[in-house]
Order: sequence, then structure tokens, then C-alpha cells
Amino acid sequence: MRRKLVAGNWKMHTTLAEARRLAAEVVAGLSGGPEVEVALCPPFTVLAAVSEVLAGSPVCLGAQDCWYEPQGAFTGEISPVQLLDLSCRYVIIGHSERRHVIGETGELIGRKVRGALAAGLEVIFCVGETLPQREAGRTREVVGGQLDEVFDGMLAAERVVVAYEPVWAIGTGRNATPQQAQEVHRFIRQSVGAKYNEEFASRTRILYGGSVRPDNAADLMGQSDVDGALVGGASLKAGDFCRIVEAASPAGR
Ligand code: PGA
Repeated sequence: MRRKLVAGNWKMHTTLAEARRLAAEVVAGLSGGPEVEVALCPPFTVLAAVSEVLAGSPVCLGAQDCWYEPQGAFTGEISPVQLLDLSCRYVIIGHSERRHVIGETGELIGRKVRGALAAGLEVIFCVGETLPQREAGRTREVVGGQLDEVFDGMLAAERVVVAYEPVWAIGTGRNATPQQAQEVHRFIRQSVGAKYNEEFASRTRILYGGSVRPDNAADLMGQSDVDGALVGGASLKAGDFCRIVEAASPAGR
């Protein structure tokens, strides 16, 4: 019922030439049908070039962040309108590196989600606990609080994809087990259902992110509440990324 989404988060990687090559390799390497949606989220500097490579292909474009106003005096920032102008469909908001390395607050992340939605983008909204928080048994409290900060007071959350990315699993090679992921995904779906309604929650896509690789992707995405993946490191190799996309299709599992 929910179409799976596999999104590649290239983070602060790729020059112009590398980005063009990687995007072209992904387009050429995908063999699956329309049951899996695929998106690439390269850095701002190569969005225009990757947009040209993806034009006419089924692969969508996304950005890794954006500001919440459509234009104005915000030196160094990029607006959602500018992203739409480059044919972006998605924007990642609230990634753990922006929360924990750059220091974005839940309040700022909430504004960004609302600004991006108002402009017409679809948002991949990231949540996740740190290792000390998990070890202290606070996963639900932390993830629930992150959901509250964005969803409370928001009348409609259409066009929001939630990405559960445990901070301890990002870039560490240590993925959550499929059971750990399923447990938190189920909790997120129940929370969304309590905020809106069950029917809406059953349509909301929830991605898993954190050390997704070709060898663990099928088990993770085989869980009933895992609707795809947000892939960092493995998205920088076209072959690995395409194998993860294959693992998301019913035939690949
Ligand atoms: P990773 O990153 O796949 O390299 O762990 C995931 C992410 O940060 O989105």
C-alpha cells in the first residue's frame, strides 16, 4: 500500500564531475519497476547538474536542507523556492548531523519543515536518539519529543516522510537490528496516528537510516513498518545503492 522510497544522502561529497558520473551510473544501474521510488540528495553545489542528469528518468531529486523563508536577507542560506526551481521534489530536514554537529534546535527544524511544505516540497523529516539516550531507555521519549516539535500545531502533515535514524547507527557501520527498527517505526506510526488519525498514519511513509548496506537492506525493509531507507555512505557507490533499491522491491526480498 505504501510505495517504498530509497533516498541517497550524499552529504558533503562529490565535485561536479563526480556528481554527474554518480547520478548517471545510478540511472543506468536501476533495473526495477515503479514500485520503488528513488531519490538522490546531493549537495547544493551540484543540484543543478544532477537535475539535468536525472531529467526524463524516474529518479527524483532532493536537497539536504533548506531555510524556512521563500526569499530574503539570509546570507548563505538556500530557500525552498530555489530548490523547487531546480526540480527538487524532496528536502531532508532535521538530519542528525544538523541537530548534533551544527546545533539546530527542534524549534528551527519545525520552522524549516513548515516552510518547505508551504513552498510545495516534500519533506524527509529525520528523528533519532543518541546512544546514551537509548541506553538510558529514553528512545521513545526522545523520538516522541522530536515528532511533537514538528507535528504539534501542524494541521496537515501530507507530504512528510519520517526517517528514523538512530544517531549511533549513522556512519558507524552499526545498523539497528530489523527488530529494533521495527519497534521504533511502529511507535512513530502510532504517534502519528494519535496526532492525526489511523488512516493517515497508515499512509505515512517511515524510512530507516543508519548504516544501510546491500547486505542488510532487505531484512530492514522487510519489516512491516519500514517503508524504505535513507542511505548515506552506501549511496556514494552506484552499484551498492542500486542493490539497496533492488532489496526494496517485493521481488528483491
Ligand atoms: P549512513 O548515513 O548510511 O552513512 O549511516 C545515513 C544518513 O546519515 O542519512
